[in-house]
Amino acid sequence: SRPTAHIDPRNEIGTIDRRIFGGFVEHLGRHIYDGIFEPAHESADADGFRGDVIDLVRELGVSTIRYPGGNFVSGYRWEDGIGPVSERPRRLDLAWHATETNEVGLHEFQAWLDRVGSELMLAVNLGTRSTEEALDLLEYANTSVDTTRTRERAANGRAEPFGVTVWCLGNEMDGPWQLGHRGADDYGKLASRTAKAMRQLDPSIELVACGSSGRTMPTFGAWERTVLEHAFDDVDFISCHAYYEERDGDAQEFLASAVDMHRFIEQVVATADHVAAIKKSDKRIMISFDEWNVWYLTRWEAQARTYGPDEWPIAPRQLEDQYNALDAVVFGDLLITLLQHSDRVRSASLAQLVNVIAPIMTEPGGIAWRQTTFFPFSITSRLADARAVRVPVRSGTFTSARFGEVATVNAVATMDDEGISLFVVNRSTTDAEDLTVDLTAVAAEFGRELRIVETHLLHDDDLYAANTLGAPERVGVRGIDGAKVTGGSLALMLPAVSWAAVRLG
Ligand code: AHR
Repeated sequence: SRPTAHIDPRNEIGTIDRRIFGGFVEHLGRHIYDGIFEPAHESADADGFRGDVIDLVRELGVSTIRYPGGNFVSGYRWEDGIGPVSERPRRLDLAWHATETNEVGLHEFQAWLDRVGSELMLAVNLGTRSTEEALDLLEYANTSVDTTRTRERAANGRAEPFGVTVWCLGNEMDGPWQLGHRGADDYGKLASRTAKAMRQLDPSIELVACGSSGRTMPTFGAWERTVLEHAFDDVDFISCHAYYEERDGDAQEFLASAVDMHRFIEQVVATADHVAAIKKSDKRIMISFDEWNVWYLTRWEAQARTYGPDEWPIAPRQLEDQYNALDAVVFGDLLITLLQHSDRVRSASLAQLVNVIAPIMTEPGGIAWRQTTFFPFSITSRLADARAVRVPVRSGTFTSARFGEVATVNAVATMDDEGISLFVVNRSTTDAEDLTVDLTAVAAEFGRELRIVETHLLHDDDLYAANTLGAPERVGVRGIDGAKVTGGSLALMLPAVSWAAVRLG
């Protein structure tokens, strides 16, 4: 039978925090050097930033950008990135086995953010460093009082504070690969005392404690509970990180990835609220889903080259995944899932932005182009506004080895004063879906029947078609043929493995 859905503005999930459309820039591979920063490129500005990349990041619509890592931050000395560039130290980056030149640091990155129109979210190093260095950075970044640190900042070209609101207390401290990895008890205590100290300096900041690096981590659940038992009163967010990939050529199973993200969020919320109950608190810890994407991690692990002891390349090609149409549909579904949890996911960062598992690719001295995943992000970020609304769908199901019966069609809507945006995915690998969406309650809310303003469809008959240096526009989005509103209903034909967005106003 044909799938049906209805949009009723009374099914409000919550207001949408723009910070869920965040990104992530790590000193990793060609992300910074030969990515956003390439002084010799013909589009580079006076500071060496590529203009074509700035334009694409603006088009992508990224709110906050988490920086400078990732695994990188757990060995990073932030002071290496300030002061005259010619005097900055060159360091070994143990996380990615590279040489860090420190040509780009806090000031340069902020200058780039000003150009792309995004806000800085900073991570402090709680791997090889501790509370004191976090305080030094916070004082340098956020204080306007006349101190040695702020004089140093002014001498480095910035009299006014950076005014960073959201701070991550380390990165993936649950992961054995992480420099300074520690147990939940140790980390929870360190996060708590660092958070308290940071708030003593600047009570206005918002703090993110590290949650799990993935739902399959052996410590998942227990980690969140223990960390929050220590740091519940001191932090605003707990983080989630999740990466998905097609395994063994099983596209249908891959298309169930959003179910995993959904359960991940539900379980972290349950754990945080359990700690709230123990603490007799009404406080609600929010989720910062500050790393999410499709990442062919197992392929990378299998192929990752090993470096000799004296081989520490500068900006090597690392994690340069090429995304196809199938990846973009899964990716769009992950965005739908984040919106479906707008009440508790108040911050999220697409990992990452340029060249490294990224929606934007560059060639040194050459072009910059949009990967397939660029489109669901830019369209959702532009059209999703104000409030998220649950969209109950009746559809067929398929059987997932991991999640059992999974709905073929998944959708969410957003509502603002001018209209409604609908985001929907057809996860079936075999069947097109002729979806009917009942808009009666929407017409009642707006006092008129809404009309279609724009439609977007991401689908390719070749699931594995991708945009490459040689064919940078092979996959794109087009309008949805035959989409129409009649008799109070929206009719949409969704091809197998497709993601779509519709704006009604
Ligand atoms: O995004 C790539 C890496 O994935 C990050 O550095 C790390 O935090 C995660 O494991």
